[in-house]
Amino acid sequence: MRTQVAIIGAGPAGLLLSHLLAQGGVESVVLETRSEEYVAARIRAGILEHSSVELLEAAGLGARIRAEGDEHRGIYLQWPGERHHLDFVDLTGRSVWVYGQTEVQKDLIAARRAAGQEIHYEVSDVALHSLDDRPYVTFTDASGAARRIDAAVIAGCDGSFGPSRAAVPAATVHEKVYPYSWFGILADVAPSTDELIYAWHPDGFALHSMRSESVSRLYLQVPNGTDPQSWSDDRIWDELAKRLGHGQDGWKLTPGPITDKSVLPMRSYVQTPMRHGHLYLAGDAAHIVPPTGAKGLNLAIADVALLSRALIAKIKDNDGVYADAYSDDAQRRVWRCTHFSWWMTTMLHTSGDPFDAELQLSQLRWVAGSRAGATGLAENYAGLPIGY
Ligand code: FAD
Ligand code: DHB
Repeated sequence: MRTQVAIIGAGPAGLLLSHLLAQGGVESVVLETRSEEYVAARIRAGILEHSSVELLEAAGLGARIRAEGDEHRGIYLQWPGERHHLDFVDLTGRSVWVYGQTEVQKDLIAARRAAGQEIHYEVSDVALHSLDDRPYVTFTDASGAARRIDAAVIAGCDGSFGPSRAAVPAATVHEKVYPYSWFGILADVAPSTDELIYAWHPDGFALHSMRSESVSRLYLQVPNGTDPQSWSDDRIWDELAKRLGHGQDGWKLTPGPITDKSVLPMRSYVQTPMRHGHLYLAGDAAHIVPPTGAKGLNLAIADVALLSRALIAKIKDNDGVYADAYSDDAQRRVWRCTHFSWWMTTMLHTSGDPFDAELQLSQLRWVAGSRAGATGLAENYAGLPIGY
């Protein structure tokens, strides 16, 4: 078969790209190894930046965010004995939205289905060929048949384990692995806070997030290699209560039934360039950030904003200026978010070294206590404009 853009991966990057391309009059075919149900149910990110929401709204994907999402003015930053609210709207004029990646994914699937988008789920043996000239992708479809797609362009939106990133020869890779992981739980209980709490504690970082009025999402810093099943529910809630300051100034953490437990290792990874010949990378296929600061999904959306514009100009108008600039343009934001995620991570996770702990507390007091410090965090967290 033949199409204009062969998109590998039906995560948020791949589906949003197919959506924006279609709006610009460019056709695509999407390949995905997993089933549609699996992709829609994967529990991952939970926070959308201001500019991500603006972009999704402009693309006609904002109705459910407005109806069911929850707009937050800011976050709480805390350490033992102190909790401070950072008001992003006051500091920068920009807010963030609590809206799960599962919901973004469902909205994208519904929109692509309504538009009759060709998506092949449960494919295997995906391979990229001839990237310098007349590129094509081969794969085995769900029925076991060998297939081939010829395209003007291949978009690698296949995350950190897909084949696209490895198809860029002589790429430069920057990587940092952190000596701790996040233990994440989902619980059927109303959040004990109106906005997210990022908590520094001598026993490790904790985060109170949420998905809705009746579902809470919480995280604990744990050593790498922790087995989520080795922690009882009581132990998880006790540890969260201690680190999040249950009892401090009358605040209470309400426990509830835990419906999901997982451990997420943390690393920073940036691969450059994000283009080789007719292959373009977007999202986790090109970069991974540690989750502190909620940048991963937002960065994938920002890449796709640039890439869709570049591919529409190239394919429809034969104008390759944005396509040639894509990798450099995207990397500016990638490094800003890589730095911010590293900065949040190293400010909030304890290493066991008392010197590091004093530096972290000093930095937290400065960020929470100075308008300049708070504005720096707010600008990065609520997100820089698309095209930064
Ligand atoms: P993905 O969502 O990974 O999508 C890539 C798609 O490609 C997948 O559907 C995959 O199945 C498919 N694929 C892989 N190989 C192939 C192949 N050979 N052929 C075809 N398709 C293929 N970010 C946050 O901001 N906050 C969080 O709390 C957070 N939690 C996370 C938890 C986990 C466990 C993970 C893995 C990530 C988390 N992230 C979080 C990061 C965020 O979810 C990602 O940045 C985001 O999903 C990136 O979207 P993407 O479309 O680039 O990649
Ligand atoms: C969530 C994840 C994050 O990494 C973060 O910084 C805030 C919230 C979440 O899953 O809700």
